Amino acid sequence: MAPKFHIQLIFFFFLLSTPSFNICSADSTDFHRWVTWNVENYKKKSLNLKKSDSLISRKMSSAVDLKLRMAEIDRMEIRVSQDGSGDFKTIREAIDTIPLYNNRRVLLHINSGVYREKVNIPRTMGFITLVGNASDPPTITGNDTASSVSGRDGTPLRTFQSATVAVDADYFMAINVKFENTAPHVVGTVGGQAVALRISGTKAAFYNCSFYGSQDTLYDHKGLHYFSNCFIQGSVDFIFGYGTSLYENCNLNSVTKKVASLTAQKRSDSSMSSGFSFKNCTITGSGSIYLGRAWGDYSRVIFSYTFMDKIVLPQGWSDWGKRTRDQKVYYGEYKCSGAGANLTGRVPWARILTDEEAMPFIGTYYINGDTWLINPSAYQL
Ligand SMILES: *[C@@H]1O[C@H](CO)[C@@H](O)[C@H](O)[C@H]1NC(C)=O
Ligand SMILES: *[C@@H]1O[C@H](CO)[C@@H](O)[C@H](O)[C@H]1NC(C)=O
Ligand SMILES: *[C@@H]1O[C@H](CO)[C@@H](O)[C@H](O)[C@H]1NC(C)=O
Ligand SMILES: *[C@@H]1O[C@H](CO)[C@@H](O)[C@H](O)[C@H]1NC(C)=O
Ligand SMILES: *[C@@H]1O[C@H](CO)[C@@H](O)[C@H](O)[C@H]1NC(C)=O
Repeated sequence: MAPKFHIQLIFFFFLLSTPSFNICSADSTDFHRWVTWNVENYKKKSLNLKKSDSLISRKMSSAVDLKLRMAEIDRMEIRVSQDGSGDFKTIREAIDTIPLYNNRRVLLHINSGVYREKVNIPRTMGFITLVGNASDPPTITGNDTASSVSGRDGTPLRTFQSATVAVDADYFMAINVKFENTAPHVVGTVGGQAVALRISGTKAAFYNCSFYGSQDTLYDHKGLHYFSNCFIQGSVDFIFGYGTSLYENCNLNSVTKKVASLTAQKRSDSSMSSGFSFKNCTITGSGSIYLGRAWGDYSRVIFSYTFMDKIVLPQGWSDWGKRTRDQKVYYGEYKCSGAGANLTGRVPWARILTDEEAMPFIGTYYINGDTWLINPSAYQL
């Protein structure tokens, strides 16, 4: 089945079905009739829109963005399958058919399989949702690194462009998808950053997804983000950026061989809302890791109700060699467990949060979730 873009068609029929008169030779009566017809028609249309809008709102909190509610009214679906049973065989082909300025929810169902593709979702292409099969999620994979040479002009890609999947659009969602960058991290080399997913748009949510990489796996670049029940694996700084993000029920798995940091949060100014909050997560894997190192002067990371295996270094946190950051960063822990959560050896500037201090970070309100989080079951996957 081909994707449905009826807008042009509808407009065509709109012209055809206009009451019979000839615009070119229209006298003023004809013109007034035409205006009246148009006004009536517009009223009817907006009434219908309001009706379906209220249907949606009953399921969706009324606090949800109007833009988002409108997008959900008129969803479209596209199927991607490598065996040819869908609309397209590759994710890129499917994305190429979506209007560059998109304002409808598009559910892109991706059948199981390994998709060796570089996927970019441009800034104006909002409301895209990648949906995979829960029991056999599709993998989107690549192996570009910061030092890979881009085909066109022979310059290195840099970290930003190394991402297998890069999302610049707002209101992005992914459900049951595996994002991967297979480039290995070689200790001591430069330019090895190899991003699996970069999310730069705001109001993005990830459910039951996994992120596999080594150095710099998940570029949580900027905006409000929600990660639920996800698996994130890497070696060095494997969650980094200055997003304002809540990670709930996620497994953070280190594959570092020596010493590395789990996060590198880049809040660089005390006025920025940016920060990573991890709630009810588990930290497992190999090597020795810091919970975070300060990429920005005001780096902010909070772990609550999180199980920390023994791989977490007693010091817990690193100022990346800049003493001046010790009094500026906000590194908090609240009700964590496991050998790695032992507070005895922590740096003195780590914060053991009180109930009151922890409160702002431990709910979806931290990311203004009320205004944009949609229960994925609304899509009847
Ligand atoms: C999902 O994957 C499982 C296991 O491969 C398969 O049995 C099932 O049919 C798939 N479901 C859909 C909707 O494709
Ligand atoms: C990246 O993957 C391609 C296969 O798509 C392979 O030919 C290439 O050797 C890989 N590069 C590295 C550095 O692993
Ligand atoms: C995510 O996985 C959990 C099981 O771990 C399942 O209960 C839930 O329905 C899944 N959510 C979606 C949106 O598929
Ligand atoms: C905590 O996370 C685990 C999965 O890692 C989940 O099974 C459990 O329900 C979560 N608890 C709460 C209170 O959300
Ligand atoms: C925490 O670590 C200290 C120093 O290694 C040790 O003496 C103490 O028993 C540990 N506490 C717990 C609860 O494991």
